[in-house]
Amino acid sequence: MAEPSSSGRAAEDWSARQYLKFEDERTRPPRDLLAQVPLDAARRVADLGCGPGNSTELLIARFPDADVIGVDSSPDMLRQARERLPRCRFVEGDLAAWMPEPGTDLLFGNAVFHWVPDHPKVLARLLQSLPQGGVLAVQMPDNTREPALMLMDQVAGSGPWSATIAQALAARYELARAEDYYDLLRPLCSHIDIWHTHYNHMIENPAGVVEWFKGSSLRPFLAPLDATMREAFTARYTDEIRRAYPVRADGKVMLKFPRLFIVAVR
Ligand SMILES: C[S@@+](CC[C@H](N)C(=O)[O-])C[C@H]1O[C@@H](n2cnc3c(N)ncnc32)[C@H](O)[C@@H]1O
Repeated sequence: MAEPSSSGRAAEDWSARQYLKFEDERTRPPRDLLAQVPLDAARRVADLGCGPGNSTELLIARFPDADVIGVDSSPDMLRQARERLPRCRFVEGDLAAWMPEPGTDLLFGNAVFHWVPDHPKVLARLLQSLPQGGVLAVQMPDNTREPALMLMDQVAGSGPWSATIAQALAARYELARAEDYYDLLRPLCSHIDIWHTHYNHMIENPAGVVEWFKGSSLRPFLAPLDATMREAFTARYTDEIRRAYPVRADGKVMLKFPRLFIVAVR
């Protein structure tokens, strides 16, 4: 049952099962992010928005001697993460207010901060909480101008469901420009690296693209709808996706996915 969150949005839970349907593709950005973290060792590491533990697993492999904890606001994601990594510590928390324990050398947030209200301010606060040499490493999808996301808004605003899901249109937060993150965070750190990577994910068919987003951006749109409306919305959206993402030579479709990366050293 969806409940209003502090920001007035529907706070329906995530589904670890749906999210993990594309585990390989979704785990590539945190691998790429971690590869740029300039730490040989760490005392304590926090995986922010750890989800089902896929990114946490990478952190444990890279820092086997560190105390690695996962933080997430979703009970379903945390359940899955604890099952996957029973020896790891997972805590429920909202990153809007969460603070790291002393001795934390790495704050790693893959695909989470675009869901956190006023995330630039939160990133600045977290960076300032680190000891000298500590690292804040963040990746956020920068895809709101991609057809899949634009069509979501378009379908949401032009059907019998539009009043019901009006609130969902503000459910994820626009990213700032790379230059703005630089100006905000540079005075707070000794080194910063900001870059974009465009992934081209090959998805089985157009319906697969819809399945991908059911595990992330579509959740706030579908959650407030009853089963009939949800089915109608999904059918309309799938038609639009079919038009926007033509099949390639092997029958698959190419989902272009731009992502923004930030690695800041305190
Ligand atoms: C897209 S998943 C990312 C999972 C994983 N980090 C990965 O690399 O694939 C985003 C996660 O962020 C969590 N999340 C969203 N808003 C949050 C918040 N305000 N505080 C803590 N976790 C949040 C969600 O519950 C979800 O598990």
